[in-house]
Amino acid sequence: MADTPPLVALPAHRLLVAHAARLGQAHLRELFDLDPARAESMRAEAHDIHLDFSKQRIDGAALADLIALLGHSPFARRRAAMFAGERINVTEDRAVLHVALRAPRGTVMRTDGHDVVPDVHAVLDRMAAFADAVRSGRWTGHGGRRIRHVVNIGIGGSDLGPAMAHEALLDRVHPGLSFRFVSNVDPGDFHAKVAGLDPAETLFIVASKTFTTQETMANARTARAWSLAAFGGDERSVSRHFVAVSTAADLVKAFGIDPANMFAFWDWVGGRYSMDSAIGLSTMVAIGPDAFRDMLAGFHEMDRHFLEAPPERNLPVLMGLLQVWNAGYMGFGAHAILPYCQHLHRFAAYLQQLEMESNGKRVRLDGTPVSWPTCPVIWGEPGTNGQHAFFQMLHQGTFTVPADLIAFAMPAFDSLGMHDMLLANAFAQARVMAFGQTADELRALGTPAHLVEPKVMPGNRPTSFLLLRERTPRALGRLVALYEHATFTAGAVWDVNSFDQWGVELGKKVAGALLPLLDGPASAGPDPSTDALVRRYRGWRGRG
Ligand code: F6P
Repeated sequence: MADTPPLVALPAHRLLVAHAARLGQAHLRELFDLDPARAESMRAEAHDIHLDFSKQRIDGAALADLIALLGHSPFARRRAAMFAGERINVTEDRAVLHVALRAPRGTVMRTDGHDVVPDVHAVLDRMAAFADAVRSGRWTGHGGRRIRHVVNIGIGGSDLGPAMAHEALLDRVHPGLSFRFVSNVDPGDFHAKVAGLDPAETLFIVASKTFTTQETMANARTARAWSLAAFGGDERSVSRHFVAVSTAADLVKAFGIDPANMFAFWDWVGGRYSMDSAIGLSTMVAIGPDAFRDMLAGFHEMDRHFLEAPPERNLPVLMGLLQVWNAGYMGFGAHAILPYCQHLHRFAAYLQQLEMESNGKRVRLDGTPVSWPTCPVIWGEPGTNGQHAFFQMLHQGTFTVPADLIAFAMPAFDSLGMHDMLLANAFAQARVMAFGQTADELRALGTPAHLVEPKVMPGNRPTSFLLLRERTPRALGRLVALYEHATFTAGAVWDVNSFDQWGVELGKKVAGALLPLLDGPASAGPDPSTDALVRRYRGWRGRG
């Protein structure tokens, strides 16, 4: 793939630069005046997900050239290679086959000539048996009591997906079980999460692909000590209160967890693409195997759509291209995720890892530097809460932040028309971000002269609206796969490796090297600033 021409040399790139210069001057009001039909033409729908991108600052001509850019990029080749199990993660020499995690039984998906689908279903079946045992009370703790609390210990992809899914599907969680997620090496996280739990009724899931991650191993050791203390140090209790999810069987065993209580996955599953692997064990225990399989079916439906739909109707392709457009051509360096659904309150955090760890890259697949912007800052919070916090800046600040608004049509609960209020707010915010309110309009409303300018709403803030039918496990699977493949699309156009994460390694090493300076004999830090911080810390800790 080293022969891929740079993005800036692709014929469509020059045209897109010209489109951006033109559309950078245009207001969404004008774009709608010029083409009132854009409300119809700039939308796409699949599997009960309706994507309205008519309020993006793009028009038909620019979209056509974005699709041309896609056509000249490595996208199609790389998508085919991913589904074929090729080692497209070149820096780690690994296949990228999370799509196999949701392939129906009997499908064939190979990597290195080996069909992985039977392996996937064998693990799913073991997970289901375990989940059923915990849910029914057949799986008991060391003292014979049933499990009432499940604590997932993991970080990054081994935490964010399970934690997000737990919140997203909270109303489907087994009523007799509570779930907590410990991730931070800050000891306060563990202690807060186990507060009030009875160790005799608590099961820990230690989730770590590598089983070497400092935070997870430290929390797992702390959990082991906390649990053992309740059983008078009886090591036999460990096998009833600890299970593991990992690719590293030997390390799991060395930690003292019975390999019979380990649920495997494989090196072709990236951490941030793993919530539908055994990493989702807590999700399966929470919602039950049938609902989990329904979620996998939703993922799979979106996989097929991504593979088969033409670009102009392909939801992930459109969303990936819109990100390329906004970040690369319009120069918008941030992207807000605004779910109008409290249950999705961890979704932006989940997407931060998915997108920023995947596409926050500075070199191309062949190792040469990119000379175009890649991943924007991904952030967000649910509406309507955000409206009362940071939307002021979105509406009247000096930076333009494109946003995705996400809402479900069908309420899971409703009270006195509140769901309609929620949706009215979502639609209103997208409208106001696009069209704003002019000085003339404010004057016509009788606004006092001194308040006209402070009240002007410039509008022209681009948004996409994702309206889903209903918040179900299947819909969650579709939504996550939608963003996974949008991330893939943008990464392929940018020609980066979306599946490695070298940028997180140096910090881990430096932390390892600094630790002895904090708790060992005093010695000089590696630079004057760090040295001063370490000395101040040691001083306050009474370490001289
Ligand atoms: O440090 C980054 C990272 O490697 C992520 O990519 C991953 O999701 C996370 O750490 C946790 O890794 P593991 O599952 O191996 O503990």
